[in-house]
Amino acid sequence: MDIYAHRGSSGTHPENSLAAFHEAARLPIYGVEFDVHLTKDGELVVIHDETIARTSDGKGFVKDMTLAELRSFDFGSWFSDEFRGELIPTLYEVLEIFSETSHHLNIELKSDIFPYEGMVGEVVAMVQKMKLDARVVISSFDHEAVRAVKKIAPHIETAALFMEVLVDPLDYMRTIPADALHISLPYAARPSMRKVVETGVAVRVFTVNEVKYAEALRKIGVTALFTDYPKKMMIHLNRK
Ligand code: G3P
Ligand code: CA
Repeated sequence: MDIYAHRGSSGTHPENSLAAFHEAARLPIYGVEFDVHLTKDGELVVIHDETIARTSDGKGFVKDMTLAELRSFDFGSWFSDEFRGELIPTLYEVLEIFSETSHHLNIELKSDIFPYEGMVGEVVAMVQKMKLDARVVISSFDHEAVRAVKKIAPHIETAALFMEVLVDPLDYMRTIPADALHISLPYAARPSMRKVVETGVAVRVFTVNEVKYAEALRKIGVTALFTDYPKKMMIHLNRK
């Protein structure tokens, strides 16, 4: 079972920060996950929420600010003083870190609340320009965006994100179409999801921070888990 560092090593570092990604890059884990939004001036930035209030010393919507404006805020001290001065990363900066490693990259398009125009094309173009196509899975709760990725770059792996029960997940993913399913932990062991696992389709589960759940998922045979504590999870799963 593969381990992805969720929003970087976000349990030990400020989520989606360069510090969190450098920590993940140092670990011999399978991959890293992160979230992408679009700024007012069309820059791809890595942050989870639509607003910067929770993870910086500023406030406001990412879509209403330019990259320069966003760069004036501190994205580290909300987590701990040790990380004061962290800036919001661009997608390019994050991809650059991992272009030096062999980690797999899960880029989550956060276009489910605001359907950022042009975002899909720009993300795909950057992935291709940096020759990361074979190491990337692009996911979203916005299944229209997942469909759009497949349309313009059929060779790039895509995943549909879910936080609910689906009667027939395989049937639904074919209608998008998506290559993989990324499912929230409470729904991962449902009979319908176990059927998907049995077919060999990739099923990855978020967010798994307790080793007892990781053990259970490994027994079921899921492909991967996303965790805020990749080092702890890696040490535990390697020991067993
Ligand atoms: O991509 C898996 C997971 O990150 C999706 O949920 O809210 O943490 O972005 P969220
Ligand atoms: Ca995410």
